[in-house]
Amino acid sequence: MRISILGLGLMGQALARTLVGAGHSVTVWNRTEGKADGLGATAVATAAEAVAASPLVIVCVLDYAAVRELLGLVQLDDRVLLNLTNGRPAEARDMADWVAARGGDYLDGGIMAVPQMIGTPGALILYSGSPAAFERYEEALSALAGSRYLGTDAGLAPLYDLAMLTGMYGQFAGFLEAAALIASEKRPVAEFTTELLLPWMNAMAGRTPELAAAIEAGEYATDVSNLEVNRVGMVNLVRAFEEQGVKPDLLLPMGDVLDRRVAAGHGAEGLASLIEELR
Ligand SMILES: NC(=O)c1ccc[n+]([C@@H]2O[C@H](COP(=O)([O-])OP(=O)(O)OC[C@H]3O[C@@H](n4cnc5c(N)ncnc54)[C@H](OP(=O)(O)O)[C@@H]3O)[C@@H](O)[C@H]2O)c1
Repeated sequence: MRISILGLGLMGQALARTLVGAGHSVTVWNRTEGKADGLGATAVATAAEAVAASPLVIVCVLDYAAVRELLGLVQLDDRVLLNLTNGRPAEARDMADWVAARGGDYLDGGIMAVPQMIGTPGALILYSGSPAAFERYEEALSALAGSRYLGTDAGLAPLYDLAMLTGMYGQFAGFLEAAALIASEKRPVAEFTTELLLPWMNAMAGRTPELAAAIEAGEYATDVSNLEVNRVGMVNLVRAFEEQGVKPDLLLPMGDVLDRRVAAGHGAEGLASLIEELR
């Protein structure tokens, strides 16, 4: 299959290398020359030439503004534009209209992988937008990663992508605070992490489907620790941080939300009920 790739940063190069390896005929363009060396793809001098070369055009650059800038006035008739650039739902919806106005079909994608994972079983790409385009290219794209098509609304892939990143940042925030507390006593952080924290975090992550079910049902009764117990626990945690001389900055926002929910009379409910303060 003929596939063009616009943008040869770390991710674009991984995409190109993997599609070449899967036997596709890959044409590439990058703003700065020299990034196509050793990829086994055909490098062209302009974005317009890359668009002309293939019915599937993948773009993976810094942001959506760069996508518009590099495409400029290029027409996209009979082209599928797959945008794997990281963005927001509103930007993806605007981009779908922008591409349609140039005669193209639009797919948005969110890459849940680092470049080294592309083409390996752990990688996942979320897709949304044109169902016909996804069906046509699903098999070719399976060389890059597992696929999950979320629906015709182009904004869904970035929405889910950002939600998954949100979960990730929450995990890293908890890890960093825990590590700061352990390090405050000069205890070995690596040993603590692998032997104790990781199994604990995995066990707690295993409880999230239960919380998700409670959120969907809007029923927040709990038979584990309620919000008042957690609020007192958080006050204790923050004091411990202060006594240890480390900053609980990444924990404090959660403490604020707990305080508000308990003050509103929901102290007997479970943790899932905090979502009502976020809506
Ligand atoms: N790396 C990851 O782990 C990862 C994971 C998931 C998603 N992503 C997403 O993938 C996208 C690319 O990431 P990356 O890691 O490949 O970044 P990168 O290595 O920094 O590469 C950025 C690319 O964007 C191009 N670019 C920037 N501004 C441009 C403009 N105005 N016009 C044309 N091209 C422009 C750069 O071209 P030049 O070479 O000319 O500077 C380069 O090809 C981002 O949206 C990122 O969020 C990355």
